[in-house]
Formats: sequence, structure tokens, C-alpha cells
Amino acid sequence: MSGGDSLANRTILATGGLGYIGSHVTLDLLNAGANVVVLDNFSNAKPAVRDRIKRLSNRDIALVRGDVRDRDALQRLFAEHDIEAVVHFAGLKAVGESVAKPGLYYDVNINGSNLLFQEMAAAGCRRVVFSSSATVYGDPETAPVREDAPTRGVNPYGRSKLMVEHILEDLAAADARWSAICLRYFNPTGAHESGQIGEDPLGVPNNLFPFIAQVATGRREKLVVFGGDYPTPDGTGVRDFIHVVDLSAGHLAALRKLFADDGAPLGYAPINLGAGVGYSVLEALAGWSRACGRDLPYEIGPRRPGDVASVYADASLAASMLGWRAARGLDEMCRDHWRWQSENPEGYPEE
Ligand code: NAD
Ligand code: UFG
Repeated sequence: MSGGDSLANRTILATGGLGYIGSHVTLDLLNAGANVVVLDNFSNAKPAVRDRIKRLSNRDIALVRGDVRDRDALQRLFAEHDIEAVVHFAGLKAVGESVAKPGLYYDVNINGSNLLFQEMAAAGCRRVVFSSSATVYGDPETAPVREDAPTRGVNPYGRSKLMVEHILEDLAAADARWSAICLRYFNPTGAHESGQIGEDPLGVPNNLFPFIAQVATGRREKLVVFGGDYPTPDGTGVRDFIHVVDLSAGHLAALRKLFADDGAPLGYAPINLGAGVGYSVLEALAGWSRACGRDLPYEIGPRRPGDVASVYADASLAASMLGWRAARGLDEMCRDHWRWQSENPEGYPEE
């Protein structure tokens, strides 16, 4: 526990705090001395996550098994705990599924968030960090992307993230007591360096790192690179991969910022969380090959509909406003993701 940390003894609600990103932030919050209440409906989390966090921190969370769309559960939670700030991870995140089931995405992501914010205000808590996404930039005209670039929802998932940002902007405009930081994540990757917590996707992974991870363990035959004819140096897509432990540190920096501004709320503040560096799909694959010690098989396939050529962040606002910068490079992302995957080839154990 770090003495003098402004997060020590604070009570923080982490919705979705047992998911991939939430589990890393929950662990770091416990290690910073905060008390963490987790609201999670286990739609994409397993009970083992809690045990692992407990083992790594020697502390426990207060767990509320429930749905962010359940007003009664939220009211009970705010009545039982003196929540000082909320980190809102809970939501659905698969672009393809959002196209097939838009109603579900709008219900969980938009209605769930709106209800949460209403119950926060009713309880007198108006400090929130929201998990937004670089997807709000749509197909950006320029890279690196700054926070004042035009925003555009290009699929139901992206529209749901943008709508939640609009809700927070409107709430802050209507009531100056709100401090709402919307962290626009670029491409989260990697795992905790202990190898004990990491991403545990259901079914065939959609995202690059979890897919390569399963090629590395032999569970999948090869990576299909979606497009080799983009206007990028090697023809493959370029993304801003960011280590999840760096991403987690960005959340703690954002929370400290919320608490530092007592009496002078921040209003609505969108902030990019990216490394500010673009790597191509083939560069990422080469990083993985170095991490696992063998060349991983791949073939170049057609482009994936909806993909853009190159997206990476201008991360200077996070540096100036939060004092945060990504510290870990591609090799650390691959090494830590590989450690998690090789030690947990089937993900978390069932109970
Ligand atoms: P995840 O699926 O691993 O975690 C989400 C957690 O929320 C899970 O534990 C799940 O059980 C819980 N949850 C889902 N619906 C819920 C509900 N209705 N009520 C209560 N709990 C619920 O996802 P993640 O990768 O950790 O992402 C966290 C947040 O970050 C999401 O909002 C996501 O949209 C956003 N985000 C993720 C990425 C990424 O690449 N992982 C990128 C940008 C933004
Ligand atoms: N890719 C492959 N093969 C795969 C998977 C991905 O070549 O099997 C490529 C993609 O074409 C892309 C890059 O790897 O060029 C990264 O793809 P991801 O699916 O890992 O990530 P995206 O940048 O497409 O998507 C991420 C988040 C979305 C979010 C989007 C925009 O996963 O939730 O960023 O911010 F909407």
C-alpha cells in the first residue's frame, strides 16, 4: 500500500470490475489502498478472477452480483456503500455482435449507463471515469488523433459509446457538480505481469492479440491478416496497442484528478489513452514470435469490412492533464500476454 496516495481509503465502485480491463484496475486500486466495490453480472467474467485479485493484493473487494440496468440493485448498493467515485467498465464490446443485436447493445451500454448516472446523482456522487473507445473517432481523417477530432459512430457499439459520452456532456452542462472523464482507449493488450489475470475471451477471438495468443498455444492453426494492401509501410493495418497495466495506471491517474479537483469539478473531459505509437499487424506478429520463441504461421487474407488503415493516438492531453504516459512497449505487451496465455491456456478455471 503506498502511503499518502490520494486514493487510499477512498471507496470506489467499479462496474464490470471483474472483466479484462476492470480486473487490472481493481487490483491496482486495492494496492493503492482504496476500497473497491464491484458490480458485475458475470456475463463475461468468472468467479476465479476475484480469487486471483485477492491473492495478488492480499485484500478483497465487496462484490455485488447484479446488473447495471437494475435500478433496485443500484439503489441498494449506493445505500450500503458510501461511494465517492465510479469507474464504469460494465458493457458489451463486440462490434460484430452489436450489428446483429443493436437493441441489446443500446440497452446494456446506453440504458445501463444512464440509469447508473441517475442513481449516482441521487446518491450525491458525481465523479465518474467512463470506458470510452477510440471507436468514437470512426474512420479518422488524420493520425495521430486528438480529442478534438470529429466524432462519429460507425456501428451500434460505437454509437452506444458516443451516446454515453453525450449523456455525460449534457449532465455536466446541466449541473456543474459533475466531473466525468471519458477515457478513449485505443487497443488494449497484454496482461498483468504475474500471469495471473488477463483477457479470457469467449469463443473465437475477434481482436488481434487474443487471436495470436491462441495461435501461439496451438489452439488455432494460423493468423489470417485482414488485408495486406493498406496504404501503410508494410500494407497491413496500423494500431496503437497499449499495455493493459499502463491503461490501468491511466485510470488511477484519472481518479486522482477527480479527487484533486474538490470544489472545482472538471465537467466533461474526453481523454485519449494510447501509447501514441502505431504498430502494424505484421510488427505485432513479429513481437509475438520473439515472445514465444518461434515464428508464428500467418497468411494474408482479404480486408475485414469496416476496418480502417491506421489509427493511433495523440496522447499529449493525458500527459499534461493526468501526468500519465504509457511506459511499456510492444515486446512487454507480447511477453506479458504470452505469459498469461501459456500459464492459462484455457483461460480462468470454471468454479
Ligand atoms: P469485459 O467484457 O472483459 O468486461 C466487462 C465486464 O462487465 C465483465 O466482467 C462483464 O461480466 C460485466 N458486465 C457486462 N454487462 C454487464 C451488466 N449489464 N451489468 C453488470 N456487469 C456487466 O470487457 P473489457 O475489455 O474489460 O472492457 C471494459 C470496458 O472498456 C467496456 O465498456 C468496453 O466497451 C470498453 N473498451 C474496451 C476495449 C477493449 O479492447 N477491450 C476498447 C475500448 C473500450
Ligand atoms: N486483425 C487481423 N486478424 C485478426 C484480427 C485482427 O489482421 O484475426 C487486424 C485488424 O484488421 C486490425 C488490427 O488487427 O488491422 C487490430 O484489430 P482488432 O480487432 O484487434 O482491433 P480494432 O482496432 O479493429 O478494434 C478495436 C476494438 C474495438 C474498437 C476499435 C476502434 O477492439 O472495440 O478498436 O477503436 F471499436
